[in-house]
Amino acid sequence: MGTRAAIFGATGQLGTELVKVFRGRGDELLCLSRADVDITDAASVERALAAFDPDVVINSAAYNQVDVAEREPQAAFQVNALAVRNIAIACRQIGARMVHYSTDYVFDGAAERPYTEDDPVRPLGAYGLSKLAGEFAARAYLDGVLILRVCGVFGPGGQRTARGNFIETMLRLGGSGQTVRVVQDSTAAPTPAPAIAERTAQLLDRNATGIFHCCGGTPITWFDFAAMIFRLSGLNVELRPSTEREHRTPARRPKYSAMSNAKMEAAGVAPMPDLEEAVSGYLSATGRI
Ligand SMILES: NC(=O)c1ccc[n+]([C@@H]2O[C@H](COP(=O)([O-])OP(=O)(O)OC[C@H]3O[C@@H](n4cnc5c(N)ncnc54)[C@H](OP(=O)(O)O)[C@@H]3O)[C@@H](O)[C@H]2O)c1
Repeated sequence: MGTRAAIFGATGQLGTELVKVFRGRGDELLCLSRADVDITDAASVERALAAFDPDVVINSAAYNQVDVAEREPQAAFQVNALAVRNIAIACRQIGARMVHYSTDYVFDGAAERPYTEDDPVRPLGAYGLSKLAGEFAARAYLDGVLILRVCGVFGPGGQRTARGNFIETMLRLGGSGQTVRVVQDSTAAPTPAPAIAERTAQLLDRNATGIFHCCGGTPITWFDFAAMIFRLSGLNVELRPSTEREHRTPARRPKYSAMSNAKMEAAGVAPMPDLEEAVSGYLSATGRI
């Protein structure tokens, strides 16, 4: 008999891929968008989960507007921390396992090598702080929660979500004919959403619990990532390097936020795909090449 899985954030970039992967495994799914259940409403969360009685609850819903969060930190906390508590409490009531996603923004970016799960956390702003509080909220109410920290997510669903992703932003700017400036002094490890969804299933199959880093295997500056996107999409764009100092944003961001996947791989999970292959896959899935 397949697993019964409830997925919050089912229409987001990652949620779309989770639905594909878990449906492909023959699991019985309850796919919830914000229109179905607002996770900040504890009673709605509890009602939906009690009625479906899932074995596992996967929360890919989040407040992801890093800069806006500096203006409205309460909104970020409502979704990324207090609503995670709502879900964890409901999971405990029905005895369901919980999977939750966090971020590289729990780190301050001072490292010069990929962060491990044992590295100390120090978020630099409201978004990172709210996501870190979400990690604590899930673990406060459940012993066996599985948390995957991801970074710079890109999935084909981002072509139609309000927030999109870095590839969509680059394709839009690049297609407008203007010179595109991208920061060269900030390094991350962009992560393909389809690979996160597959690794989530693999970790669940291994009964993994605790925090796992699950990010693209290639640390790369945002400038180099933009150059890769333009090269692979065949767009001829005038791309210029910029710096965080020139490109001030309301939120501070970690300068270096690649994370090591070693713990996940040691658990027997497949290494993350090559970044170029993942970007080509994205461009092809969204009809760009
Ligand atoms: N995107 C990134 O670059 C990135 C980086 C690091 C970590 N992460 C983490 O990765 C996970 C997946 O992110 P993603 O890229 O898939 O994000 P996404 O595409 O923005 O999807 C998030 C989903 O959550 C929904 N949502 C927001 N508030 C909600 C609420 N109150 N109740 C119910 N649903 C709500 C959104 O619905 P609406 O569209 O209606 O708002 C959206 O469908 C999140 O935990 C995120 O924090 C993402």
